[in-house]
Amino acid sequence: MNTSDSLDAKGRYGGWALVAGASAGLGAAFAREAARLGFDVVLLARRADALEETAASIRADHGVATRCIVADLARDDIADVVASQTSDLDIGVLIYNAAAELYGPFLTLDHQSHRTNLAVNCFTPTVLAELFGARMRDRGRGAIAIVSSLAALQGARYLITYGASKAYELILAEGLWDEFGDHGVDALAYVVGATSSSTWHGAAADAFTDAEGLSALQARILQPATTDEVAARLFTVLPHGPRQYANLADEAAALEAASKPRAEVVLTMSGVTTGLARFAHLPKPTLRRS
Ligand SMILES: NC(=O)c1ccc[n+]([C@@H]2O[C@H](COP(=O)([O-])OP(=O)(O)OC[C@H]3O[C@@H](n4cnc5c(N)ncnc54)[C@H](OP(=O)(O)O)[C@@H]3O)[C@@H](O)[C@H]2O)c1
Repeated sequence: MNTSDSLDAKGRYGGWALVAGASAGLGAAFAREAARLGFDVVLLARRADALEETAASIRADHGVATRCIVADLARDDIADVVASQTSDLDIGVLIYNAAAELYGPFLTLDHQSHRTNLAVNCFTPTVLAELFGARMRDRGRGAIAIVSSLAALQGARYLITYGASKAYELILAEGLWDEFGDHGVDALAYVVGATSSSTWHGAAADAFTDAEGLSALQARILQPATTDEVAARLFTVLPHGPRQYANLADEAAALEAASKPRAEVVLTMSGVTTGLARFAHLPKPTLRRS
């Protein structure tokens, strides 16, 4: 894989790129990168102002067409909403980037928060993959990328349902890669680690003030990738599913973890989450398990 892969993305997939969760952070960077590569871009999120601001800067910088869909991805009828607002467009690439970020001790979370987490991170990527997978099968080409996380690779306290839902996305995309390959359609699970978005800033502010003895994962939190780097790499690796990591440091952290006993892996990730400022007041993991 090399940079010509990304430069060829428009030729390989054609049409428009749709980014779900495009008003900020990584999603806005994916939308900008798609436009830089020559795609017209559909941007979807809940905040109309932020979405239109991102779309306007993309049009000004790259001269491509844009369309904004203001919608909540937790809606039960989201597939119908997206289908009707894109029925006249030839969508060549779907990037499912949005996530419900449900954090906190498991027993403190309410049912509605769990429902939103499952809707945004599990149900909606499934039904949008069905919608656009069928369209891409019929046009004979296309690509679907689902953004997962290093949090998908092990359970960890205070991120339990978020991590579980990102694991769902990871496995969903890997399976799609196999089936959709029969139709000339690429699918990719894109595993992202610490990346300097607004959410990351909120989560990691003041994290790990004591730099002694940090794990590889904790070190990654202190040196996040930029959204532009992670967005550019996605288009480079898009034809190379079923799974790719946002950068070599994330892949190395994942490989290192895979070789260790599970209890150690889980407790290490819990050490990451409890090092974050927002969880500083909560109990830390202990080594009580055998
Ligand atoms: N940043 C990291 O360190 C990191 C690490 C691992 C994985 N990831 C993954 O990377 C992806 C992007 O993360 P990020 O840090 O860039 O997040 P972010 O800055 O919070 O942006 C999230 C985007 O999703 C949209 N969104 C969220 N909930 C939505 C909903 N219910 N309906 C419609 N749109 C919704 C938001 O727009 P509105 O608020 O306008 O709706 C925003 O555009 C996520 O899948 C996350 O799991 C990030």
